[in-house]
Amino acid sequence: AFKVKIHSTGEIFDVGVDQSIFEALDENGIFLAVSCESGVCGTCQTGVIDGVPDHRDVFLTDKEHAQGKLIMPCCSRSKTPVLELDL
Ligand code: FES
Repeated sequence: AFKVKIHSTGEIFDVGVDQSIFEALDENGIFLAVSCESGVCGTCQTGVIDGVPDHRDVFLTDKEHAQGKLIMPCCSRSKTPVLELDL
């Protein structure tokens, strides 16, 4: 498990091992647009302010994965204890 931080508000939420970032935010009243929920379509693309994403999508390029400035929160996770998102 890890935490996500909302950049605009400073709020921090837990993401459980069995839920996605999208689901964890949804549970807390923060609604992201999603479509495929499997890392394919690109709908949920979100900026990363701090932390290192654990990419699970096939939408972003290898270069974008390496840069770590974008994440698909419907499926990807975090390698760091906290991932700060540009929301
Ligand atoms: Fe399709 Fe996240 S909803 S990539």
